[in-house]
Amino acid sequence: MVVVNKTSVELNHFMFKKLLRVRKANPSDLNEVYAIACSVGTSEKISEQGFLVDDYRSNPKFYKKKLLNAIMNLEHFYVAEYDKIYGFMMAYTKEQWLADNPDWITDVYWKPDFDKSKLDNFVVVDKTAIKAGLTGQGIGSLIYTRLLSDLKSEGIENIFAETIISPQPNFASLQFRKKQKYTLAGMRYEHYNDKLYTDLVYYKKVE
Ligand SMILES: CC(C)(COP(=O)(O)OP(=O)(O)OC[C@H]1O[C@@H](n2cnc3c(N)ncnc32)[C@H](O)[C@@H]1OP(=O)(O)O)[C@@H](O)C(=O)NCCC(=O)NCCS
Repeated sequence: MVVVNKTSVELNHFMFKKLLRVRKANPSDLNEVYAIACSVGTSEKISEQGFLVDDYRSNPKFYKKKLLNAIMNLEHFYVAEYDKIYGFMMAYTKEQWLADNPDWITDVYWKPDFDKSKLDNFVVVDKTAIKAGLTGQGIGSLIYTRLLSDLKSEGIENIFAETIISPQPNFASLQFRKKQKYTLAGMRYEHYNDKLYTDLVYYKKVE
């Protein structure tokens, strides 16, 4: 009986993953994207489950505006969708990232052996969020496959991503970086909403 249940659950996961499609986001996705953000970006930060730093429900108007702005302006804003949206990812080109974070390159304490020529052209994956309760089922990886394919055709070879380790570590994100074969490139301190965060800065080659 237990085996039958396990098999049917695995089959459902398999079917679900096969039916999911990754596409670029558009403004009509806003409410669903916001709902995903709310599911993992709450006032309660659980290291093991992963979290977004912001508490999205605390100010719907503000966060919806922010997300809409990202959907409309970022070339690399993806959603994973079947009957509805189950996850999203947003990535900034170098120009977009430095426009928002002008001192980022000098703020990072780069590992002494990190090859800084990789900073010539890159994207920064800023946020990946999968609906709470559906993490660990390959949706994040599926979105990455699409991002990598697009970056390859655009001739962009380098990806950076940051993971918070303090005041509270994001263990799910740390594990996910490992799974995506990121390597540690450096760290930085980030002041955000009157709080000091410590971020690990990860690097991954597009291949
Ligand atoms: C981090 C996150 C984007 C990964 O996406 P995902 O769809 O769950 O990841 P996948 O299923 O494709 O990959 C699974 C791998 O991610 C890691 N992972 C994902 N969730 C995890 C969790 N809760 N605990 C530990 N590892 C986790 C593991 O390495 C796992 O590999 P495994 O299945 O072989 O053990 C997702 O868990 C998430 O949205 N978390 C909440 C928000 C967040 O923390 N975002 C990252 C910060 S911007």
